[in-house]
Amino acid sequence: MTPDLRASALVDTDVFYDVVLKGILKNEGMVSFKSALSHDDVTAIRNYIIHRANQDASAQPADPTH
Ligand code: HEM
Repeated sequence: MTPDLRASALVDTDVFYDVVLKGILKNEGMVSFKSALSHDDVTAIRNYIIHRANQDASAQPADPTH
């Protein structure tokens, strides 16, 4: 199972780059994507994940009385 990165404590730290580019979690099943992604690509993905996490945090639950 791959984790939902919107809930990852690593997403707003530089450890994110160590996971994605250096493969520090490869023994746990998360290989390095260094051959496919540049540092800037990873920054863009990271910014998107943070954006999505913030969207979810501000979403209002549906009102069951309407
Ligand atoms: C086929 C694609 C992928 C697979 C199969 C995969 C798999 C995994 C797995 C199994 C873990 C959990 C490792 C553990 O137990 O600690 C993990 C963690 C993680 N993955 Fe991936 N991954 C993929 C793609 C990506 C991509 C494209 C990114 C970001 C650009 C990414 C970022 C991360 C991060 C940041 C974690 C650490 C989350 C945390 O511990 O909070 N992964 N991945």
